[in-house]
Amino acid sequence: MSVREEFDEWARQGRDEGMEQRHWHTAKHALARMPVEAGETVLDLGCGSGYAGRALRETTDAGRVYGLDGSLEMARNARSYTDDPRIAYLVGDFGALPFADDAVDHAFSMEAFYYAADPSRALEEVRRVLRPGGTFYCCVNFFAESEHTHEWQDKMGVDMTLWSRAEYRAAVRDAGFYVAAQDSIPDREIEIPPADEFPTDEWASRDAMVDRYRVHGTLLTVGVVP
Ligand SMILES: C[S@@+](CC[C@H](N)C(=O)[O-])C[C@H]1O[C@@H](n2cnc3c(N)ncnc32)[C@H](O)[C@@H]1O
Repeated sequence: MSVREEFDEWARQGRDEGMEQRHWHTAKHALARMPVEAGETVLDLGCGSGYAGRALRETTDAGRVYGLDGSLEMARNARSYTDDPRIAYLVGDFGALPFADDAVDHAFSMEAFYYAADPSRALEEVRRVLRPGGTFYCCVNFFAESEHTHEWQDKMGVDMTLWSRAEYRAAVRDAGFYVAAQDSIPDREIEIPPADEFPTDEWASRDAMVDRYRVHGTLLTVGVVP
């Protein structure tokens, strides 16, 4: 199954809103750190329900926000959740962004980047469309050190790139960014049941769930264009 087919199906099942609820716990902390100034243009890569763009418009003076997704159904759902004329949702692929060079001030991505067919090429594309001084806030929950996320690959019908923290830094650098920050954002909001309630349908042990959410959470890597 292609990434588009997989996420079209998720969108039809309404799973975009479930992702939003789960990802918001940590995504909001990354979004709050973005140095978006009045009138600036922001691109959300793999926007899903489009919550990041909506949040940025509500909390900053962003002039224009583009949510890009490879799934038409995701983009369609995202459009239906807002009538803000300064937010546009586009269907496109990370490997060939439909923007001119230097056209975007800041980019954000949550739990989407590792689906790129060629992640290094995707980083080069983000670098190309960002202006000098522009930033890329790249957030992932699926990464090498967070071992209890690795089984997701078996559950997904599409290939996912499993990089370590160091590999994210190196790839961001190789694409022509400075690495301005790298950080783990723990999910402190998800409820973790007491030990005697494990195993659950999803988790073999409480320790595994603590490791996934409280220890590793979301890996944020911030690239800045020289
Ligand atoms: C796990 S969802 C995350 C959605 C949203 N960012 C969130 O936090 O809930 C990943 C999204 O990335 C999109 N995506 C995956 N690979 C893509 C690609 N190569 N180009 C564009 N979008 C892609 C999928 O269609 C999907 O909507």
